[in-house]
Amino acid sequence: MRLAKFLAHAGVASRRAAEGIIREGRVTVGREIVLDPARDVDERDDVKVDGAAVALEAEQVVYLVNKPAGVVSTAKDTHGRPVVTELVDAGVRLYPVGRLDADTTGLILLTNDGELANQLMHPRYEVPRKYVAKVHGGFVKNRALERLREGVQLEDGKTAPAQVRQVRPGVLELTIHEGRKRQVKRMCEAVGHRVISLRRVAFGPLELGRVPEGKARLLTAREVRSLRSTGMMRPDASVRAPRRHHR
Ligand code: URA
Repeated sequence: MRLAKFLAHAGVASRRAAEGIIREGRVTVGREIVLDPARDVDERDDVKVDGAAVALEAEQVVYLVNKPAGVVSTAKDTHGRPVVTELVDAGVRLYPVGRLDADTTGLILLTNDGELANQLMHPRYEVPRKYVAKVHGGFVKNRALERLREGVQLEDGKTAPAQVRQVRPGVLELTIHEGRKRQVKRMCEAVGHRVISLRRVAFGPLELGRVPEGKARLLTAREVRSLRSTGMMRPDASVRAPRRHHR
């Protein structure tokens, strides 16, 4: 946004008065004195008036992104691969809520609300995550489906009960309430069906819907409210100790 508007939003002065302050040479962006009130800045810029830092009270936003394969879900990648935060131009620094493997597609949330992100990732709230997995080996037998539902033994412990149905031969829809590394792939492998492709189609109350791959949409205030109350509605949520890893 324009520098004068930025100063006005930050409560320094009215927009008109901010223009005056800028023209007087009292405003720096980084190390540079900026005299142009129309200079484009955002909350990541180091803006100072008379040497004192000015910060916008950043609005808290949550974006739902449909992550394509090949994009990593960290905020930065050390191998130079594309990162999911680059898919949204929000003007604020966004962080992914949890992780999807690079080759997993589908729903991932990005937010600048650290508290909400921590809550959603905390094992205590057991936020449901729904995936569609295409697996090797064709039709998955009932016994394997039952094992997935009951919980399978992985090297980091037994998985919690899951909802699993075979949408068509070799395509499973799984809802899990944990977020362990490569969990769905490891669960399917454990019952003899390696995953060919994996897509997350829902997270808590949110569904991927029609957001095209590589695109994002801003959540509505109502959706954010329902996210915040995810897991909170459990009658025993406030009294239960955090769930431990099952070993
Ligand atoms: N389970 C996986 O195996 N991979 C993901 O990316 C998410 C869940």
